[in-house]
Amino acid sequence: MPAYECITVENESRVTTVTLNRPRKRNAMSPQLNDEMLDALTRLSSDPETDVLVLTGAGESFSAGMDLKEYFRETEDDPVLSERTKWTMREWSYSRLRFFPRVTIAAVNGWCFGGAFMPLISCDLAIAADEARFGLSEVNWGILPGGLVTRDIALSLGYRDALYYALTGKTFGGQRAREIGLVNESVPRAELDDAVRELTTTLLALNPYALRATKEALRHSATMDYEQATDYLGAKAAQLARSDPERGRAQGLSQFLDTKEFKPGLGAYRRDGSGA
Ligand code: COA
Repeated sequence: MPAYECITVENESRVTTVTLNRPRKRNAMSPQLNDEMLDALTRLSSDPETDVLVLTGAGESFSAGMDLKEYFRETEDDPVLSERTKWTMREWSYSRLRFFPRVTIAAVNGWCFGGAFMPLISCDLAIAADEARFGLSEVNWGILPGGLVTRDIALSLGYRDALYYALTGKTFGGQRAREIGLVNESVPRAELDDAVRELTTTLLALNPYALRATKEALRHSATMDYEQATDYLGAKAAQLARSDPERGRAQGLSQFLDTKEFKPGLGAYRRDGSGA
């Protein structure tokens, strides 16, 4: 990995943690940070050491959203630059992150505002600190939640909650984020690392090919009609069965039906890589 200035990338035991690292600017997303995120996610997409990706922030912030100075003010008189910076932001936080070939987890450690909802919602799973503070602050300074934030909250929040928080700009904590379904879980800040570790341990025990196919199937089929989804999901299941090198389906069936060493209600099948 190159020496980045606005992010850090660390790998430990097949889990790669990408940290937004401008704590003095509350990890606001500047053009440079966005360039670095795009580069890192592109490289990590084919990294054989990454089975789970965690996105978090340094210091007391997950991210205070778009950098109001560098991303907005300093590009507003340059349409070409403005378009390029918007493209880069959308490319990493939507395309690369949402369709990242491994499971992604947002660990929301602190402030999470505006544009930061894009990478948050693009992650497959999210755990917040109770002390984190979320806010769709845009209405406070005369704009709407831009980029894809409005689309994203329509996707991930209920109708009333999405409108309420977008229209009032009121902030809310981790427990409230859990109640409205923005995150999966909220724990005291001191327990956030342990909660993330527990989740990554669960994921690492599972078949990564099945995990990838499952997230792709869910994300793509969500916007299809039922006929399209029936056809697509059938084809996707057949693709997984053919391309899974550990032959998970056959192993699971054999361990349940023949050797009786596995019950799906009690955990994952034994991944010895031998196939059934
Ligand atoms: N863009 C650019 N700079 C930002 C920023 C942003 N979104 N958020 C914070 N910063 C900068 C501040 O300007 C300040 O810079 P300075 O030290 O050069 O003056 C520094 O980060 C620290 O911010 P500060 O406001 O002093 O920290 P705080 O801990 O008191 O408050 C927040 C933290 C997150 C509540 C507050 O910074 C804030 O409201 N930020 C804007 C959030 C927002 O509306 N984001 C939506 C953007 S789409």
